[in-house]
Amino acid sequence: MSDRISLERVKKLRGSITPPPDKSISHRAIMLASIADGKSIVRNFLGAEDTMSTLNAFRKLGVKIEDKGKKIIIGGKGIHGLKEPADIIDCGNSGTTARLMSGILAGNPFFSALTGDASLRQRPMARVINPLKEMGAEISARNGDKYLPMKIKGGPLKAINYKMPVASAQVKSCLILAGLYAKGTTAITEPQKSRDHTERMLKAMGANIEVKGLNIRVQGLGNKKLNPIDITIPSDFSSAAFFIAGALIVPDSEILIKNVGMNPTRTGFLKVIKEMGADIKIENIRDVSGEPVADIHCKTTSNLKAVKIGRNIMPSLIDEFPILCVLATQAEGVTEIKGAEELRFKESDRIQAMAEGLRKMGAEVKEFKDGLSIKGNAKLKGASIDSYKDHRIAMAFSIAALIAKGKTTINGISSVNISFPGFFEMLKRLTH
Ligand code: S3P
Repeated sequence: MSDRISLERVKKLRGSITPPPDKSISHRAIMLASIADGKSIVRNFLGAEDTMSTLNAFRKLGVKIEDKGKKIIIGGKGIHGLKEPADIIDCGNSGTTARLMSGILAGNPFFSALTGDASLRQRPMARVINPLKEMGAEISARNGDKYLPMKIKGGPLKAINYKMPVASAQVKSCLILAGLYAKGTTAITEPQKSRDHTERMLKAMGANIEVKGLNIRVQGLGNKKLNPIDITIPSDFSSAAFFIAGALIVPDSEILIKNVGMNPTRTGFLKVIKEMGADIKIENIRDVSGEPVADIHCKTTSNLKAVKIGRNIMPSLIDEFPILCVLATQAEGVTEIKGAEELRFKESDRIQAMAEGLRKMGAEVKEFKDGLSIKGNAKLKGASIDSYKDHRIAMAFSIAALIAKGKTTINGISSVNISFPGFFEMLKRLTH
């Protein structure tokens, strides 16, 4: 099957959509329910490639998981109930699977090994391996303990005080999970606030976890249990962002995006586009399973303004970087994004991938080590784009294609199944 799509300019985007369930929350629901005591129900689970990597991994650890489409029933084994996997666990493309799971495996007294696809095997793992070793886990990995594959022999852990050198919810969550297995209180400080789904879910399950600003304290469970959960997952804000951007830049557009997760650690993109002058309304704000949820109403905005953004806001819009770059090509002025070097370590080097693709489409882009600047009011033209098999790069350029003159071909589009199966069908439904 061809792994590319050709898209052309469209007249308008109109209609109402419900994007797929949240990827981060889906991963965490499987992991935490697996180590809870008893049956959990996860409703509106994301059945995409990344989250299936987590589901299959926990099956390999002996957890019974019934997959009824969007409803998942998990027979939690308790904190000490996982079993040694009979084979290497393949995390596929999923950094969340590899990094969060390593925290759980570090607390388990058996042998396990993790690997992943070509992209994941190039992504940094020392950021979890080093602190987990400090807690007492035996871990070794390829190339001087830096990359997958890695092997873990866990056991009794000791609590540590850890000041994280990079803002990463994956590293933070890994250490929180290991902290559940440690004796005493694990204290973690993050440099900037990153997504807090793990903290929210663990609290709801009865763990002793305290969050004060950038400081997190989690107490080892000891003989205590984690309570099972019945959780309903909202739509993924990061998936919604592609359509928010589409509505803003395609002429004569109006889209209602329903049931979107609005956790403030995830919605930095909204702050930025409001500053750019976006015509957007947040409606029907409510709480679902401990997470804020709303509907987003957005319309074409022809007078977007350029913005300057830096390190502090980065974690709250980390996955929206590619689509924000597309928006920047249509704003008046030069948009500057700095403090974003973490983007070089995602599913692809997203700074390089966006700079390359946008230049091919006719935009003026300067690349820095930690970000880029993009000159606005660009008249984009069709081009052949390499997505580097990165789902968010593929989706960002699919939106850019809708305003470009001529045909844009995006290569490596099967990657959208990592987070957003049905992306092109949803786009087609909105297209007029
Ligand atoms: C994620 C955290 C982010 C994000 C990724 C999912 C998570 O990574 O980019 O898509 O679920 O915790 P980092 O926390 O490593 O930046």
